[in-house]
Amino acid sequence: MNWRHRPRCDETLAWAALQRHFTQRFTGAGAFDLRQAFAQDAGRAASFSLDVPQVHADLSKNLIDDEARHLLTQLAQECGVTVLRDAMLAGERINTSENRAVTHVQWRSKSNRATSHAEQSQGAPENIVDLRREITGTQSAMLAYADRVRADQAITDVVNLGVGGSDLGPRLVVTALRASGVTSGPRVHFVANMDGHELAELLPQLDVDSTLFIVASKSFGTAETMQNAASARAWFSAQGGTDVARHFVAVSSNAAAVEAFGAGRCFAFDEGVGGRYSLWSPIGLPIAIAIGSAAFHDLLAGARAMDEHFAQAPLTGNLPVQLALLDLWYRNFHGFGSRCVAPYHHGLRRLPAYLQQLEMESNGKRIDARGRVLPFQSAPITWGEVGSNGQHAFFQMLHQGSDVVPVEFILACQPAHMLPGHHTQLLANALAQARALMMGQEGDAPERHFPGNRPSTVLLLPELSPRSLGALLALYEHRAFVLGALWGVNSFDQWGVELGKRHAGEIASALSGAAAMEGWDSSTIGLVRHVRR
Ligand code: F6P
Repeated sequence: MNWRHRPRCDETLAWAALQRHFTQRFTGAGAFDLRQAFAQDAGRAASFSLDVPQVHADLSKNLIDDEARHLLTQLAQECGVTVLRDAMLAGERINTSENRAVTHVQWRSKSNRATSHAEQSQGAPENIVDLRREITGTQSAMLAYADRVRADQAITDVVNLGVGGSDLGPRLVVTALRASGVTSGPRVHFVANMDGHELAELLPQLDVDSTLFIVASKSFGTAETMQNAASARAWFSAQGGTDVARHFVAVSSNAAAVEAFGAGRCFAFDEGVGGRYSLWSPIGLPIAIAIGSAAFHDLLAGARAMDEHFAQAPLTGNLPVQLALLDLWYRNFHGFGSRCVAPYHHGLRRLPAYLQQLEMESNGKRIDARGRVLPFQSAPITWGEVGSNGQHAFFQMLHQGSDVVPVEFILACQPAHMLPGHHTQLLANALAQARALMMGQEGDAPERHFPGNRPSTVLLLPELSPRSLGALLALYEHRAFVLGALWGVNSFDQWGVELGKRHAGEIASALSGAAAMEGWDSSTIGLVRHVRR
């Protein structure tokens, strides 16, 4: 099968069989019930669990049976998920709307091992061989620079100016590994928002002589980042700073724009690295400064182990594939509109925000890669909050609300702190929530009744380390990829963010009095006038 002509999920035999199976087994009287499923099958937990690099995944408390799993796996086969996967790993231009290869995996494929499977049969295309050579050079230069910054006593603060994928991934990783005690060296800060309050709050804490600004933007044209970079440079000059080249470094694919800005050096990367997949590339510079090159290599090694699992494991035991199939099952058959991400680790408190971009920007599409309107629903809402805090906010709704929301618990078996008692209580709370959602409870009053049969997944890491985090994030990337492959959408473009940017430019002109607002709607005109008053 050619990756360009793969069937979409709803064009397969498995899809029709899944529809029949769902109606027969998951609706009406006698519908599938998790409590019964466990009572009838002592091996259910083992049968629906997978051990992959750095992650033990228990999928058994999900609304799925053997037949559904079998048919879903058949669906992945019929859709040619592995064909598209191998095309991605081999550097084919699978991002068709932008005519680009998808290359983030290459940035972690030391010795090319992640792609060896596809290469053995096809031979690596020349573009990928050249790219790998460039990656090796850039990566070692970037890591050497990061280690020099770490060793430079004169630099106390590093500020990453970037937004979206140029912020969320690095910010998540630095936050996570800071909680795990892996970070050292200068303080690393992140500023993303167009809202000047974020930068204005940070600047007074900085010393002009000991601060390094990273301007991180693949396009070097994103309004938020350019605005923050201009303000940071103005502040730098106003404070008497003169050596812009030493105190501003850029990470971008747009060399010309970087040169015009005047950054001292630029770590470049190829256009095939999508923003939300870019933390492995030089966009990971703030990570490398925070954890050092050796730990950065561990992060890459964790991701690489997951890449190898994804590239080689059979579909039935392939965790990214099985999680994506479950996502499809919930969205297109059960009709669930959202998925809750509940990391029970303080270090992972930025995970929901990171996943929102990864999943909703990748698969929040209403047309397929061939331009056809999808006759089914795509990306649900990804949302969540760190546990146990979430229990005291929205878990009421998860237990007794009118919507069923699958919950994903992410746990680390070992903590990085020495405080007695906390971690046992934390893990107990996570496992208790998963069990309570499933078991429910008969109530002596309607308001004390818990329906139960509510689904959840548990992902267990040994501890939160560069390696396990690398594996976890690669797992999520591949899961989003598989889901997009099943739905037939292009997971690597994001045209949906463009329109708002254009309107913002026009409205900014109107707010400064430069645009006439002719033909605009009365609401926008009224609001602009109100702001200008
Ligand atoms: O919001 C759209 C987007 O293009 C994201 O996909 C991307 O991660 C972000 O903006 C930042 O883009 P850049 O790195 O080019 O500044």
